[in-house]
Amino acid sequence: MFGRIADIGHNDGGSGPWRVGVLFSRSGFMALIEETQFRGTMIAIDEINQAGGINGREVVPEVWDPQSDNSLFRAYARRLLAESGVKTIFGCYTSSSRKAVLPIVERLNGLLWYPTLYEGFEFSPNIIYTGAAPNQNSLSLFHYLAANYGSRFYFVGSDYVYPRESNRIMRQLVEQNGGEVVGEMYVSLNARREEFYPILRDIRGVRPDVIFSTVVGTPTVYLYQTYADFGFNPATTPIASLTTTEAEISAMGYDVGEGHITAAPYFEGIGGSSGTDFVSRYKKMYGDSERTNMCVEAAYFQVKLFAKALEQVNTLDPDVLRPVVLGTTVDAPQGPVTINPSCGHANVWSRVGRCRGNGTFSIVYQSSSEVTADPFLIGRPRMA
Ligand code: ACM
Repeated sequence: MFGRIADIGHNDGGSGPWRVGVLFSRSGFMALIEETQFRGTMIAIDEINQAGGINGREVVPEVWDPQSDNSLFRAYARRLLAESGVKTIFGCYTSSSRKAVLPIVERLNGLLWYPTLYEGFEFSPNIIYTGAAPNQNSLSLFHYLAANYGSRFYFVGSDYVYPRESNRIMRQLVEQNGGEVVGEMYVSLNARREEFYPILRDIRGVRPDVIFSTVVGTPTVYLYQTYADFGFNPATTPIASLTTTEAEISAMGYDVGEGHITAAPYFEGIGGSSGTDFVSRYKKMYGDSERTNMCVEAAYFQVKLFAKALEQVNTLDPDVLRPVVLGTTVDAPQGPVTINPSCGHANVWSRVGRCRGNGTFSIVYQSSSEVTADPFLIGRPRMA
């Protein structure tokens, strides 16, 4: 459907295809969301090729499935850069997989395009970050929750770097604003349903205003379903998240997801001509019941950014391509998005949505424009 997987071809200075690496888990406990990032990447590549490629040359993906295993992320990144001669990789959802790949892309001078929200506090000259940083999602989420539900927070997360760091930032927001963190619990990354039972029993005892979830992948489904089984009410004690998208909501059941809160740059149905076209293309390709989400959207628009920059420089050499990527703007489905030259992170929109009974989100807060990326929270000195 998407053209062939790369076998031969030149990267630069010729007429062969532009070969790129694609590294998202299509199996294992992260496939629920990473499969959608794979789809977003491939739709964008397909659109570019249908329109004649980049400077007349086709984009050909070399696709690997790291199976939700960070050691495979690292091995495949090395293979792409060192053996296949690829310079550009679109990939990674978890921050632990990104951190596994980072030393490889730095040492072998590749360019990783990372389409996932994360905890901030990272910079690499070999990574372009196109998901939200904490100043673009945690801040708006906190203020919405505190104003509407209260500021006694209970944290539940998967046990790795993103949840621990994201909770550190959220704790500072809560405490600086006179609130209280009444619990902080972690489950394994591939947690089973039963791991959530003692946590939900604890939550029943301490009665927080909000449960802030940094659980990712398939265990997200178990958390929300267990919450429903325990009889909690989202109208009074919602689960709030930066990672629970339309994909996780579909997997858990719309009835289970209804009333919960997520902050993201993009939700399906936010309108705008670019957003509407994107949704119809996605549904045409994958079926009417499939929904877009912030992760497939970032995976999609970052390929468009890549193509726009490559068209100008006509080389995949990161030393030449990256300076042009910095400052580049595209009209993404979420609205205009620019790569901030000072940090290599995207200036993205900030939105908060409440899940409806049909699995889409109603927007309860929206920034008036792109929010400048501030991954080190320099604009908030008290939080550093
Ligand atoms: C994440 O691990 N960056 C969601």
